[in-house]
Amino acid sequence: MPEDTLTIIDNRTGKQYQLPIMYGTYPNYGSAIHTIDLRQIKASDGDFGLLSYDPGLSNTASCKSAITFVDGERGILRYRGYLIQELATKSNFLEVSYLLLHGRLPTQTELDEWIWHITHHTIVHENIKKFMEGFRYDAHPMGILVSTVAALSTFYPEARNITDPEVRKRQIYRLIAKMPTLAAFAYRHSVGLPYTYPDNDLSYAGNFLNMMFKTVESKYILHPLLERTLEVLFILHADHEQNCSTTTMRNAGSSHPDPYVSVAAAAASLFGPLHGGANEQVLRMLSEIKSKDRVPEYLKRVKAGEFRLMGFGHRIYKNYDPRANILKDMTAQVLEVTGKNVLFDIALELERIALEDEYFIKHKLYPNVDFYSGILYKAMGFPVEMFPVLFAIPRTAGWLAQWLEMLGDTEQKIIRPRQVYVGADTRNYIEIKNRK
Ligand code: ACO
Repeated sequence: MPEDTLTIIDNRTGKQYQLPIMYGTYPNYGSAIHTIDLRQIKASDGDFGLLSYDPGLSNTASCKSAITFVDGERGILRYRGYLIQELATKSNFLEVSYLLLHGRLPTQTELDEWIWHITHHTIVHENIKKFMEGFRYDAHPMGILVSTVAALSTFYPEARNITDPEVRKRQIYRLIAKMPTLAAFAYRHSVGLPYTYPDNDLSYAGNFLNMMFKTVESKYILHPLLERTLEVLFILHADHEQNCSTTTMRNAGSSHPDPYVSVAAAAASLFGPLHGGANEQVLRMLSEIKSKDRVPEYLKRVKAGEFRLMGFGHRIYKNYDPRANILKDMTAQVLEVTGKNVLFDIALELERIALEDEYFIKHKLYPNVDFYSGILYKAMGFPVEMFPVLFAIPRTAGWLAQWLEMLGDTEQKIIRPRQVYVGADTRNYIEIKNRK
């Protein structure tokens, strides 16, 4: 008998089936059966065959991917094989985007060319500005971003030709380049400030900070530490394998629309508080705790099940989220520049006590990326409404890498799951006058 198989006995029929097991790079982390092999398992001749039931797809591999590796038990995150800690200290966001999209680090010439293309696609059509003006004065910047990135589809009709690699490449330049411009315009619209145009002399993060915060000064002075911090935040948020928004990107993209509308769909998924909105909840929680000495009392209420400790726990990480570690150190450095923040002191105390507490140890609850990112964004001057927008900008690189990988994967098809129908059996239509 071959070793790498799974034997299933159907107790309804007594029949036995052998299903092959497939493996990824690590045999003990990512083995799977093809669920279509379950279809042959039938209780009778007329039976459709067995399906697998998995709400939330929490135990379903929807694709093979060579982009990002996460080992949640050991707290490991790698893009294309490179440890996130190394990329966060040695690389920059545009190089990481190249890596995610091309599968390898660029040479100097390739990187220069890549940066040139992104830098020269940052301006948006003037009609986009008019489009933005149509939003109410208090429109949420994430709502504006989702709508305007979808609207880009109407400016670049060639983008629908997704089978042409050159066309795809141009849309990738445009999307990575224009997301910060749309994001900054969305913010400035929401506070009634005139839009600041992109500045080609600045870095990716520097240009975004400039478009966000430049007011009447002839030259906005960028603080190098804040610029680097945003660059690192962008690196840490660039991809995280098959999460909710990335799965949406693949789902929407599987029917082959242009990438602008697929990115809009993915960004819409990111907007929800269960995904891109958790760091805002962390800030609210820290503000509610108010002072360090109230931490033990707050944790008591968490343990009593009154509410969850925001920024703690993760579906995948059952160990320290490596991104949280990096951000913890950066928060301390940034606060040296921007000024002391009582919320950070409360966060440190919360983390210290929680990590020693039996409840958190038993439930394998560690700080996640959102525990410190909100404090950092706030210290840098971003309003909380911008938090999901700040997530969407770098994640666009990951969404596009996953989209490209999907288009090149001959095993991928239009997403069309099955269901287990639990509704009524056939019923006869009753004329309205006869209904009770
Ligand atoms: N505080 C207190 N207890 C918690 C927490 C928490 N933050 N998270 C999980 N638990 C407990 C649950 O009560 C449950 O306990 P029980 O088994 O005694 O009933 C157990 O841990 C398992 O919880 P699940 O909800 O089943 O775990 P899951 O992996 O589905 O949840 C999630 C992950 C949603 C992130 C959860 O940890 C949570 O709600 N955290 C707070 C919100 C948050 O920080 N979200 C950001 C995630 S990171 C990101 O999206 C980028």
